[in-house]
This record gives sequence, C-alpha cells and structure tokens, in this order.
Amino acid sequence: MSDRLANLPAPLEAEGVWKNVFSYHPMDVELARAEGVHLFDTKGNRYIDASGGPMAVNLGHNDPRMRAAVEAQMRDFAYVHPVLANRPRAALCNAIAEVAPEGLNATYLVSGGSEAVETAVKIARQYWVGAGKPEKHKVIACYESYHGMTLGTMALSGNAATMRPFDPMLQKWPHVRQYSDHLKPAHLDRDEWAVECARDLERLIHCEGAHSVAAFIVTPHGCGSEYGVVAPARYWEEVRRICDEYEVLLIADEVVTGFGRTGEWFGMQHFGVAPDIMTMAKGISSCFLPLGAVTVSDAINEVFRAGTPFIHGFTNGGNALSCAAGLQVIDIIKEDGLIAHCREMGERLFAQKERLLAHPTVADARGWGLFMVLEMVESKASREYFAPEKQAEQLFQSLALKNGLVFYSTLYGARRRPLFRRGLPLWVSPPLTISASEIDELVDRLDRTLGEWERMLGVAGV
Ligand SMILES: Cc1ncc(COP(=O)(O)O)c(C=O)c1O
Repeated sequence: MSDRLANLPAPLEAEGVWKNVFSYHPMDVELARAEGVHLFDTKGNRYIDASGGPMAVNLGHNDPRMRAAVEAQMRDFAYVHPVLANRPRAALCNAIAEVAPEGLNATYLVSGGSEAVETAVKIARQYWVGAGKPEKHKVIACYESYHGMTLGTMALSGNAATMRPFDPMLQKWPHVRQYSDHLKPAHLDRDEWAVECARDLERLIHCEGAHSVAAFIVTPHGCGSEYGVVAPARYWEEVRRICDEYEVLLIADEVVTGFGRTGEWFGMQHFGVAPDIMTMAKGISSCFLPLGAVTVSDAINEVFRAGTPFIHGFTNGGNALSCAAGLQVIDIIKEDGLIAHCREMGERLFAQKERLLAHPTVADARGWGLFMVLEMVESKASREYFAPEKQAEQLFQSLALKNGLVFYSTLYGARRRPLFRRGLPLWVSPPLTISASEIDELVDRLDRTLGEWERMLGVAGV
C-alpha cells in the first residue's frame, strides 16, 4: 500500500475519509487484500467472496499470471488510439471468436457491461438501416430485467421503480414477461409453458408491428424475481423461431453468464441456440481491469464490412492493458480446466441445496454451474420478501459478514416496491477456482447465517 493510502485518517466513516466520495455507502468492513476465493479486512478477518463480487470474479483473486500478463503489456504500451493496429486487441478478439458460439466471430471492445449493451443496441439499429429496413428501431426487453445503469440501458431494464426518477428522459421500449416456473399452470408441462411464455414475444411483436422491431434483448439466467431460473431449451428454440420469422435480432446479454460461470463458456450454449449479438463483461476480465465486449454474427458483420460505418467509439474501448487481462483470463480458463471444474464444484454446491431449502426463508435454490440463486422470502406461502422497514437485507449482510461471507447485495429490495414483491435473489456465485472444502465451508456459513437471520427477524417456524 502506498504511503498516501496508508496515511488516510481512520476510522473510515461517513465524516472521515469518505466525505469526498459521492453517493457511496460502504459497509463497516474495509478490504485490505484478496487471495483466491478469500478477502481479508484491515483487522485480519477472512471472508469468502461468496458472490464473486457482483457475479464477476471468475478467477481467483490476485492470480500472479494476471499480474504478469498486464505488467508485460505495460512494458510495451498501455494504451494506443484505435486508429493504429495493435496486437492485444486483435489477439483478444481472435480468442473470443474461438470460444463464442459458432457464427459469432467479430467483436467490438468496450469497458463494461452497460457500454456493451449500449453498443449492441446501436449495432442492431445500424444493421437494419444498413440492411435497408430503417423502420426497425424498437428494442424489446423483459420486465424486471437489468441491463445496466446508463440512460439507454435503464430504459431497457424493465423495472418501473428504479426508472421512475428518470422517466421523462427514458425511451419507452416495449417489455414482455419472461419464462417463470413459479407461474406455470399445473396442467401444462415446462415445455408447453415455455412455448406459451415465448409466444408473448410474438404477440408483442404483432402489436408493435414487426416492421418496427429491431431486436429482443434477454439474459440467459432470467431476471428480477425469476433471477437464476433456467428456462427449458424449448423456450429459447421458440424465441429463436420467432426472431427469425419476424426479422428481429436476438441479443443475449451474457454479462453475468459469460466466461464459464454456468459450466459452459456462455449461457446460451446450454440451450443449443445462438444469438445474433452477444454482450459480455464482468468475467471477461474477472474484473482485474475494466473490460466489456460485443460479439456479432457473420451476417451482421457483413453489412458493416460492406460499407455501413459504425457510429460509435469510447476512448478506453480496447485499452491494451484490459485486452491483455482478457486474453490471460481466457488462457487461464483453458489451462486450468475451469469450465469442467465449475461444473464439478457446481454439482457439489447444488447437492447441498436441500440444507438451504430447509430454511423457511429460502423458497427456491436454482441455477447452474457456480451460479446458484436463492429466492429469499418472508414466508414460502406468500412468496413475498420482507417489507422495507424491517431492513432485512441490511441485517442479512451484517450477519453474513460476521460469519465470514461477503455477498453481493444491491440492497435494492426496497427499491422494487410497489410493483415487485416477490422473493429477493441472493447470489451464491464464488470464483470458479473454489475448492470442494471451500464450497462446504461456504454452505456451512450460509446455513448458520440464515438461521441467525431468521431468529432475529422472528420468522415463524424457526
Ligand atoms: C445482465 C447484465 N447486463 C449488463 C450489466 C451492466 O454491467 P456494468 O455494471 O459492467 O455496466 C449488468 C450488471 O450487473 C448485468 O447483470
């Protein structure tokens, strides 16, 4: 740590060192260092990084190979304007093409997930203009989805509560429901219900006018109340059929599911359905450095190659250090067999889900790979989360910290009201490098945390 950091006044509280940091409310724990799946605070306490940051840290923390790769690049050059050819950018795009679904080969580099989604939407729009269908401009997304925090991506994310303050500034995109196991009528099987859910997209395209719809953006892992729900492949096949029939581009937002998190390189590979455009961030660099990317199909690329100039660009898109980090992440995932390891550790995690489901506040435990989402509720009967005034999320976080677990939390339960009352997702998504004993330790600590939380909240049946 530099002297400048070491000499900051303690304690780190609102009126101390944080006073010049805008809109940021840290927990009491201050991070000192991180190693593997562990985080260490300034008092020497050890925590498991149970959600891998925000489902983003796919490698272990502080991997020396990452440091070496970035340092090596730094010795050559850290940055170059995109008008000059540079190998780190080319090498990363080649490496992404090798692992991306077949037919998706050309990549545009950016600095994060929101930028990737903005870029994907602009590519979709310009593709249709270039392809001679300039009326196609609308982008359909799912209710309660999350695609980022810029004005453009917030307009796509279908959460009225968070959008409200920005309402006059947001484009009003059409939204559609997503696949839901919870709402499935008993007389339909999952596949029949999947087709029903997908056909809502078809109905919406009809209502909007297919001539005006450019794209449908969707996450492979569900969203909001259905976060972590793995829809049947039948849902995705039907979505693909609909998109093809009405000439609507399918954008898979793989910001969370990309780079091995679900036990495949990308979430859509589980379903055997390829999107036209794929967005990536988070695990692409394991957050060692800011990086995001958009990969497009050859058919889309063709229109731009034929002369449509893409009106876009960010100063730090394709920053050489970020490229070096992304390239090294892909190499490490391959060298260490992390996709297979993720599947194996995921099986071990999911084999223990009954222990978690035995809690009255855990209504569901779902997902794949090392991506388990618990649906946390006040009661399984109502399937609703605690009222905001109970401060249940804050309490859960502090108990988890006491028990040596750091969970990602948006502390956004309150912000979902009044529209969304259903259970709140808790992400169990540690780095893919986690060992079997660390998985068991994580589940033990989580089990204990849930019990203490329920007792303190006075949950019935504890
Ligand atoms: C599915 C999805 N898309 C986009 C984003 C935005 O990514 P970023 O926070 O890097 O801008 C997120 C962030 O959590 C996400 O989960």
